[in-house]
Order: sequence, then structure tokens, then C-alpha cells
Amino acid sequence: MPETATSGPVMPRTLLSSAQLDAERLVALLDLADRMREAWPAPPRMLDGKAIALVFEKPSLRTRISFEIGLTRLGAHVVYLDQGESPIGDRESVRDFTRTLERYADAIIARVRRHSVLEEMSLCARVPIINALSDAEHPCQALADAMTIRAACGRLSGVKVAYIGDGNNVCHSLLLTLGALGACVTVVGPSAYTPEPSVLTLARERALASGGSVALEFDPDAIAGHDVIYTDTWVSMGSENERDERVEAFQRYRVSEAAMTRAARDGKVPFFMHCLPAFRGVEVDNAVIDGPTSLVYEQAENRMHAQNALLTMMLGTSAEPKNGAHP
Ligand code: CP
Ligand code: NVA
Repeated sequence: MPETATSGPVMPRTLLSSAQLDAERLVALLDLADRMREAWPAPPRMLDGKAIALVFEKPSLRTRISFEIGLTRLGAHVVYLDQGESPIGDRESVRDFTRTLERYADAIIARVRRHSVLEEMSLCARVPIINALSDAEHPCQALADAMTIRAACGRLSGVKVAYIGDGNNVCHSLLLTLGALGACVTVVGPSAYTPEPSVLTLARERALASGGSVALEFDPDAIAGHDVIYTDTWVSMGSENERDERVEAFQRYRVSEAAMTRAARDGKVPFFMHCLPAFRGVEVDNAVIDGPTSLVYEQAENRMHAQNALLTMMLGTSAEPKNGAHP
């Protein structure tokens, strides 16, 4: 594995959106992630000597810990900076923040409230910037999800995935990723909470090229006939003030045992997925998330392997020279 890990398609210099990963890059990443998982807990130290900064404006369990432990096992030195009380750009400009941080770190992994902050960081940075969740996307989650579905179903092409709930950051990255890999994705949710039209258009273009599809449905019963049912919280971080209206708008879409039975494809109850954290009894019932087809902890574990593959490929093959001209 170590010899081949950094060969393959050139990775983008930053990863802000799942749209930056085409099918070739995605397959290479998923293949390396599988090999990273097989080698765990002793993956090759592909990031020996690298310093990585994690900068988070929002809480996290999975993302923070999977990056810290995963990258440390690859030999990197990881530093966590909590910006929860002080959004990036508040204490000093985004430019000064980024240009200073890159003097210490070989890559910056950031969880931000506003996606535009990541875009601003990436415009002035000479080191890779990686989106660890923004209001628009969650690309690292989608990599782990694609890896998880491929392992559970044995393929991605033609796999029927119903994403039920809010057309949010997780949904956006999932559509762009699975759309490029030949899966058939149906988003099922209330008409007021559909994904961004621009994301839907792009995901449909990618699906057209891959032999997959992307559809939108409003009837909760449209989950029938799927291999995978995926949901996320109805109240993402930052939209807590909309909790009551959201809970009311989404309540018909709760993933119950009865819904899972209705969703069966060819008599087979689908796999259940959720990026976590989950609000049990709200978007999903205990019997489903704890049930025999639940993949939620596989997804959580795969975050680490998928991210290890991503950082290895970004820092190993395509990172631009750190001493290049300043933008
Ligand atoms: N799924 C996910 O990103 O979880 P955290 O918010 O705990 O990092
Ligand atoms: N959509 C959720 C995902 C959490 C991992 C949020 O943004 O809060």
C-alpha cells in the first residue's frame, strides 16, 4: 500500500466542495480509504513530519476526533484551535488569520459557519484548505458515506439511495458525490426545504455522466424501493431558532420501523444511514438507528479512513509548493 498510495489522479489543492472530486478522483480516494481501513491500526506513516491545523467554529465529535487520531497515526502533528467563541475574521482579517496559520501548518482543516469564509481562506492560502463542514457542504462526510455504501452493497453503480429530510450541507455533498458514482438518489422532504437548485443541477449533470440519477420527491412514501435510507437532523447547527417550525414541517418524514419496511427493495429492508449526531425519536426511531441494518457507526469509523486517504493524496501528490508566489 505505501508505494502506491500517492500515485493516481491529481487532487485539487483545496477541498471546499464535493464538486471538486470527479469520479476518477473519488474512486481513487475510496480505494485508498479501503486500504487504509485494512491497515488500521497501523497505517503507513504517510504524513510523517507534516503539521495540520484544525480550526473549528462549531462543535464536533466525529470530525475532530477522526482527524486528530487518524492523522496522528499517519505521523502528522495535529493542532486543534477552538474558534467557537470567535468566528474566523472577527479578531483579525481572514487573510491575516490564514496567512499566519500557513506559516506553521502544511494544511488547514476548518469547520465554519459561513462557506464564504472557506472561499476567502482558500483564495489567500498557499496550503490546502479542507472543508470540515460549512453551511453549504460536508465533503468529508460524503466520502465516508460513499465508502460505507460501497462496502455494504458491494457497489455504488445502480444503488438506490433515498435521502429523507432537510436539503442541507450533508445532503448537498451526498448528492454531488453519489451522483458522480452512478448511484440513483432520491431526495424526499418538504417542498420548503429542498436542496439548493444549483447543487441539484450540478448533481444531475454528474449523474447523467455516471449513469446514475438525482430525483426530488415530496411524499414520504417515495422512500419505497430503496437499498439505503439516509437522514440527518432536521435542525442543523445554526438553525436552532427555527426548531419548532422545522420539527412540524418534517414530522411526516421521521424514519420509523414502519417506514423502513415500506422502503424495502425486492423485500429487503434497506440499510439505514445518518451522519450523526442524531436526535433519537425526532428524525429517526431507536429501533431503526439501533436496528440490524443500521450503518451509522460504520460511517463514523469510515470518516477516519476516508480523511486519511484524502490528506495522503492531497499532501502527497498535488500540494502546491509552499514557497510559491503569494496571491
Ligand atoms: N458527522 C459529523 O460531522 O459529526 P460531528 O459534528 O460530531 O463532527
Ligand atoms: N447538518 C448537520 C450535520 C452535522 C454533522 C449540521 O450542519 O449541523
